[in-house]
Amino acid sequence: LENGVARTPPMGWNSWNTFGCNINEGLIRQMADAMVSSGMRDVGYEYVVVDDCWMNPNRDSAGNLQGDPGRFPSGMKALGDYIHARGLKFGIYQAPLDRTCAQYFGAYPGRTGAQGHEAQDARQFAAWGVDYLKYDWCSPSGTIDDQVRTFARMRDALAASGRPIVYSINPNSIHDKTGPRRNWGDVANIWRTTEDITNAWDTGQTNGYPMGIQNIINVTVPLAGYARPGSFNDPDMMEVGRGGMTDTEMRSHFAMWAIMASPLIAGNDLRNMNAATQTILKNQNLIAINQDTLGLQGVQVSFDGTRRVLAKRLANGDVAVALFNQGTTTTTISTTASAIGLSGSSFTLRDAWTNATSSTTGTISASVPGHGTTVYRVSAGPGNPTATPTTVSPTPTTSP
Ligand code: DGJ
Repeated sequence: LENGVARTPPMGWNSWNTFGCNINEGLIRQMADAMVSSGMRDVGYEYVVVDDCWMNPNRDSAGNLQGDPGRFPSGMKALGDYIHARGLKFGIYQAPLDRTCAQYFGAYPGRTGAQGHEAQDARQFAAWGVDYLKYDWCSPSGTIDDQVRTFARMRDALAASGRPIVYSINPNSIHDKTGPRRNWGDVANIWRTTEDITNAWDTGQTNGYPMGIQNIINVTVPLAGYARPGSFNDPDMMEVGRGGMTDTEMRSHFAMWAIMASPLIAGNDLRNMNAATQTILKNQNLIAINQDTLGLQGVQVSFDGTRRVLAKRLANGDVAVALFNQGTTTTTISTTASAIGLSGSSFTLRDAWTNATSSTTGTISASVPGHGTTVYRVSAGPGNPTATPTTVSPTPTTSP
């Protein structure tokens, strides 16, 4: 979406994965503080996003949305001010139909959806200083045309509000036909590619609820051609640091989100992260690959059912390559410089996890543990100053 924001994938934190409806202003403030004290802000995490359950279940007499007075007694404007004062940005959640998802399921009372209130809600969000809106379908029904019309109404309302606001949509929630039904780049900055993520490597789902990390990767890799500055596939908030995976799996999760040009929205409790979690979420080599200004999603170079190779062309002429082992035992994964679109005769590989560099005349290879991912940044090597990207282009390999 060409609205001036999300020129690279948004980075931040969202309350849902860890806290669900158990949120309040004290918690969100602590998370903003932790974003700063943990160093997350300094490596690029920016948006603090309050998900479902922040609302007063009733609009006020003028039809305006209000924060839940029990959970957010200071009001949403004050929360936005608190977040902004720490050099961060404020994200909020709304649903386009009658109810939010939690209200739909009866976990939380009320009927506060935006239907018929789009312009009013967009103006309200702008007045509170909102910088990011997550807009969540929350209905089992609706044709694709209904979704396009409905999501576009809020796109236009946000534009009319005059405030730059990242527009994040979820066409999948509670929908019986989940999955990437179209390229949403004309409607939103980021759009969910699957049903909800869960804190597990593999749930056996191909595209139902809940999705494991591996399952989401399978759906999202073929959509590479949709990504560009302003418009990115969203494979959901991250489960790094939530304890449901091995450190190897968490590293793969983060590496694949990075190379898929996915939004990097942490979903863990930032107030108590162990060393492994911090090392993963703050890996600056992978963040640089994710935030590269070309805004390309890594494209699949090869996949034999176990060994998957993705390549992402970068603005300075380097190419990032991920060697991802979907199997459970250690295996060697190989590709070549020419297969990832580089011409030349000597290359330097920088390992994104260890920072170690090595050189090659063309073979790019690593021994990768089960569920592991090796990522190299490949650049022209000494004596080969002219290595140039050639063939890797972002073409979707399947249509939705
Ligand atoms: C469904 C979404 O996919 C989740 O990320 C979360 O926003 C919940 N709805 C909130 O009810």
